[in-house]
Amino acid sequence: MQLTLFDLDRKTIEDISHPSTYKGIYSFHKYWGKKPTESIIYFIQKYTSESDIVLDPFLGSGFIGRECLSRNRRFIGIDLNPLAIEHSNFLLTLPKASIFKAALKQIEQKVKRKINESYLVGNSKIASHYLWQGDNLLKVWLKPEIGRNRIELEPTSFDLEKIKQFSSYLVRNIRKPTFFTNSRINSNNQMSLYDLFTPRALSNIDLLLDEINLFPENIQRALLLTLTSASGQMSSMVFAITNRGKTKNQISNKVEVGSWVIGYWRPELHFEINVWNCFESRAKKLYKSLFELDEREYQKYDSIDILLGKKNGSSIINGDCLDVMTKIPDKSIKLICTDPPHSDRIPYLELSEMWNSILNKSVIFEKEVIVSNAKERNKKIHEYIEKMKSFINESSRIIADDGILLIYFNARNKQSWKFLEIVKISNKLQFIGAFPMEYSANSVVQDNRKNGMKTDYVLVLKKAGYIINVKHELEQIPGWLVSIPEMALVS
Ligand SMILES: C[S@@+](CC[C@H](N)C(=O)[O-])C[C@H]1O[C@@H](n2cnc3c(N)ncnc32)[C@H](O)[C@@H]1O
Repeated sequence: MQLTLFDLDRKTIEDISHPSTYKGIYSFHKYWGKKPTESIIYFIQKYTSESDIVLDPFLGSGFIGRECLSRNRRFIGIDLNPLAIEHSNFLLTLPKASIFKAALKQIEQKVKRKINESYLVGNSKIASHYLWQGDNLLKVWLKPEIGRNRIELEPTSFDLEKIKQFSSYLVRNIRKPTFFTNSRINSNNQMSLYDLFTPRALSNIDLLLDEINLFPENIQRALLLTLTSASGQMSSMVFAITNRGKTKNQISNKVEVGSWVIGYWRPELHFEINVWNCFESRAKKLYKSLFELDEREYQKYDSIDILLGKKNGSSIINGDCLDVMTKIPDKSIKLICTDPPHSDRIPYLELSEMWNSILNKSVIFEKEVIVSNAKERNKKIHEYIEKMKSFINESSRIIADDGILLIYFNARNKQSWKFLEIVKISNKLQFIGAFPMEYSANSVVQDNRKNGMKTDYVLVLKKAGYIINVKHELEQIPGWLVSIPEMALVS
């Protein structure tokens, strides 16, 4: 029997370093670099009490806010990425499943027929997929009325005429995205929405947005996130998979539908998928998750000042954490639990630009704490280290004397760890130890380059000069390290 240190779903200390993948509402929307929940819940439960304030200055998808509030901790979350803020707010104000379902029905009545008309094939049937090779339409697929085998048709002049009807369509509801020249994610500064979507897809997304924008805030947010979540599959970035598997010793020439992958890769052989079908299938997934949940709504305040005067609730702020943290009083935070961008691992704002343009939210790229290959951005390692040092300095000021700072981190080169030098130099914080966290990628998008890492470390720090007896318990976490993991790296 393993030692059970926290009771949530009968998790054990083993699960902290080998967590499971996301389920339900946490797997609904992709977010680059999502972290598993186990270790975070462990620290919230073990080292904070009710009404204590937990802070995550690099919030991301924001599940930590929900985990804190459901345990009556106060919570402050900050992120520069509007998508992250929308998602975090969504998790705190989930609509009731029945209300979401009614909203979906309403949208269906308003736009499904119109969207489907744009995919009409000659025999008054509706196409589900179009297979393209560059600008040439190769096949049109229909869903069968009975059975599972799709119907594949050769394109007709009717199909081509339908497509032509949209050729000069100008998108109305999506703001112009800003792309940078970054070969790592296959983007360039000339790229536009029309490189990522067919004009027909954009016209149909516009129809959905016309309806979504009429709903009250929390339903609208859930519907918008359904749309951003489905947008990759609505784009022309969906790979066609060929030559996979053999049937009766013959290589199959069957084409299968792949998915949109990290970045802006535009495969020559690709699909255009019926926008309504993409939207509906994401919405159904969300409905299922909402149905399985309790519908508790959590208190949110617009400002940190208001939260400080309350005994519970949260404040979710869209901004640069290095600015926002300066407004947090000294020694007011019991636990800082955060996962900052890991040097050059994932360029969050560049990757989220497609989503943020659909959300119509503006983005302040200059403030991002990141190392990016994007030529126009000038985001180099030196600036990254300086910003990370500022984050550590501010953390040491606002953390309570008996507080803990957890930093989720890993980086391929020794230089990226250099910001931790400030811990020794300033002598305000003390490194207690670290543990590895291995998890599978499932709904998480990790670094998929050669030598890309599948492990993160959780660095545990406390205020220097104060005694908190955590070491004995933490030493039981498998893989517990007493030195900073970068020591293992070669410079
Ligand atoms: C590793 S992700 C966090 C992922 C999160 N732990 C999760 O599980 O979803 C890092 C986050 O830092 C955010 N970020 C980058 N620069 C920032 C800044 N200056 N202020 C606040 N957030 C920033 C990015 O937008 C990104 O969401």
